[in-house]
Amino acid sequence: MGVKSLGYVVIATAQPERWDHFLTQVAGAMRAPDAADGAAHYRIDDRPFRFRIERANEDRLLAAGYEVSEAEFDRLSDAIAAAGRPVDVLSAAEAALRCAARAFRTSDPAGNGLEFFYGDTRDDVALQSPVGVARFVTGDMGMGHAVFSAPNFEETHAFYRDVIGFRDTDLPAFHLMGPDAPPMRFAFMHADNGRHHSVALGEGPVSPAGCVHLMLEYPDLTEVGRAHDRMKAHGYPESATLGRHLNDETIGFYVQTPSGFDLELGCDSLVIDPATWEVTRHEGISSWGHEWAWQKALKQAEAAQ
Ligand SMILES: [Fe+2]
Repeated sequence: MGVKSLGYVVIATAQPERWDHFLTQVAGAMRAPDAADGAAHYRIDDRPFRFRIERANEDRLLAAGYEVSEAEFDRLSDAIAAAGRPVDVLSAAEAALRCAARAFRTSDPAGNGLEFFYGDTRDDVALQSPVGVARFVTGDMGMGHAVFSAPNFEETHAFYRDVIGFRDTDLPAFHLMGPDAPPMRFAFMHADNGRHHSVALGEGPVSPAGCVHLMLEYPDLTEVGRAHDRMKAHGYPESATLGRHLNDETIGFYVQTPSGFDLELGCDSLVIDPATWEVTRHEGISSWGHEWAWQKALKQAEAAQ
C-alpha cells in the first residue's frame, strides 16, 4: 500500500498561450510535442510531460496525477470506490495520452481532482529549458507536490491517509490570522519517497482554482533567484516573497499561475526517510520571509486608514 510520487498534473485553461508563456519563460519548463488530442505538454525531466494543459472554458487544476504500482492500482480503485468516491477508469487511449499504462480519475471528499496511474514512461530526451534552467529535482521524488484545501478537513485527511495510503509527515496548526484567532490545521503527507510532502491539505473552503498551489524544486538558490527575476520581469503576481519553510526547509517564493492557484518555486528541500519518519507538529510556516500578498494588502489598507 502506498503512492510512489506525483507524476503529472492536468490543468484546464481558457488561456493556453498564457500558460505556455508562464511555464516556459518563468518556470523554465520545455514545451514537448502536443498530445494526440491537442493538449499542450511540458516537460521538466525525462518524463515525456509533467504538465498537461487542456484548452477549456474554465481555469483550474483538474487533477494531480500520482503514480502507484500495478499491484496497488486495483486495490486503490476498489478502496476509493468503497469509500464512496467516484472512480472513472480512463480508456487505453486516455491513459496513453498520460504516458501511462492504466489510469483512473477520482476526487477526494472535498472534491479536489486526483488521478492515479501505473506503467510510467521515461525517455532519453534531454531537458532543454528555454531560459536555461539546468535541471529540476525530480527522480524518485516525483515532480513536486500539490496542496489542496478542504472544509471537511478530518474526513479528507483520513481519505488521503487511510484509503489512499499517504503517510503523515507534519500535522501543524498555523495561526495565520494572528495569535488570538483559531489556528488553521494542515496535513503534510509523504508518499514512498524522500520528498517531505507529495500532497498537503489545509483546512478551509475549496479553491475555485482547484488547488492551493503546486511546487517544483530547483537544484540551488541561484535557479530560484533567476526564476524570481523572470517572474518580476514578466509581471506575474508574487503571492509570497522569498522565504524558508520550517517544516520542509524549502527556500523559495510563490507566484500566481494564469489559472489563479500558486506555483511554489524552491530549493534545498528536506529529504526524509519515509520508513522511519516520525510526525512533527510545527506551529509556524516559515523561519523567515514568505510575506503573503494578502498580508501585504492588509498592511497597506491599515496604513491608508
Ligand atoms: Fe508547498
